[in-house]
Amino acid sequence: MPGSDVRIMVCGDDGDHGASWFGPMLRSPGEAESRPISTAETDDPQNFADRLITESFVYDVVLLLVDARAGILPDTRRFAAIASLTGIPQAIVAVLGGDRADFESISRGFSALAPKLAFRRITPIPLGLSKDGAEAEVPWYSGPGLRQILLESEEKPVRSGDVEPALADGVDALVVWTHQTPLFRGRAYLVMLGGRTVTATVIDISTRLDPETLDEVSARELARGDIGRVSLSLTHPLECQTYAANPEQGGFPLIDRLTREGVGSGFVTAVRVRNADIVWHRLDVDKAARSKLKGQKPAVLWFTGLSGAGKSTIANVVEKRLHALGHHTMILDGDNVRHGLNRDLGFSEADRVENIRRIAEVSRLFVEAGLIVLVSFISPYRAERMLARDRVGESEFLEIFVDTPIGECRRRDPKGLYEKADSGLIRNFTGVDAPYEEPEDPEIRLRTLEGSAEALADEVVSVLHARGIIA
Ligand code: ADX
Repeated sequence: MPGSDVRIMVCGDDGDHGASWFGPMLRSPGEAESRPISTAETDDPQNFADRLITESFVYDVVLLLVDARAGILPDTRRFAAIASLTGIPQAIVAVLGGDRADFESISRGFSALAPKLAFRRITPIPLGLSKDGAEAEVPWYSGPGLRQILLESEEKPVRSGDVEPALADGVDALVVWTHQTPLFRGRAYLVMLGGRTVTATVIDISTRLDPETLDEVSARELARGDIGRVSLSLTHPLECQTYAANPEQGGFPLIDRLTREGVGSGFVTAVRVRNADIVWHRLDVDKAARSKLKGQKPAVLWFTGLSGAGKSTIANVVEKRLHALGHHTMILDGDNVRHGLNRDLGFSEADRVENIRRIAEVSRLFVEAGLIVLVSFISPYRAERMLARDRVGESEFLEIFVDTPIGECRRRDPKGLYEKADSGLIRNFTGVDAPYEEPEDPEIRLRTLEGSAEALADEVVSVLHARGIIA
């Protein structure tokens, strides 16, 4: 009776010695005791991670191809890490070509990594190459052949009873990140989990694998090619399971909310259910009651634009007008908030994402208080402005693009910062060496070359009238 299939994933860096090359070595027709062997191949760690999610079964063996001349490459280590972390029990390190010394040195290299990997077995084996690239004898090697190692591989342990899916409002996951733009704490992505697509916000990045040593090191972001551990909070609770308990349910793609591109692959490692000790307390005095007393509808006026565009100047005039009309307002300004609540944040992309996430949450609280909140931050990324809009609510959020061409901002340069950025004294300066993503469809666009701050502020106030935010 043949046993169950041995399923092998062959991981290499080119197609020359992929699954098709191994075929003849692995399939040996006529041998009665054979367990059927099936192979698949991949030459890219991201593709490997994607396939683990879409194929939703666990391979028995990962076969890591190492070219003796090139040695253990970063992608070889990534393949090994992904295979080990997703629960593939066994690895074979197939060293192609080279002499005995090459083989021993590569075997030693892998032994050094073994403690970081969770494989039950790692077996190195040399494979000879003839001049025309075919398989050749390895005269100095007397150990077991590839076929024998594979046939001796343990049968997959039967999963010990299915774990009931839990209603999760958050998950911890292992993420293989592939996008050019890193994954940041505070940024939200779409995830397809348990048959549904929901928004997931990165609430923590705990570690990333050092690609040299495979140690888990602390991390603030995941760059392209990184493998790391993150915590996600889900906008809608959904039934989900860990990848280890159920590979059909526990793997998920991460998708950019704006471009709908795939940006990474995730594997659920833990499911978090809502902390039953932290309940949302319903209060008798609510947002409607608070704003009624103030005779206004609460709203967020989110001013975005380059440094020196005039955001704070215009917001200041709008607030004065509203105040004079008897309205209750609050203003949040980048320069000021960065002296207190956000004093721990700088201007890296990760810090700006967190800066805006916190401001979105604070604005939401002020809206609950029934206030008209004026927010004046560069807020250069569409993703975070979208997050702010989601958190506050579409009907209470007005994006106001303070549209000043960069040439004019440079000419004004009220704080002398463009000059400093040009001379390299400040780095990551928006519009110089950091991006500004213009709003595509703001509720209000203020062209500062065409009107004074007073006139533009009047324009904002009249929109508030028109929308019934103020009477
Ligand atoms: S944001 O990009 O994270 O939204 P924020 O509005 O809080 O920026 O802060 C911008 C203000 O910080 C600018 O008006 C400027 O005075 C100051 N600043 C200091 N360094 C930078 C920088 N590298 N890029 C932009 N603004 C900077």
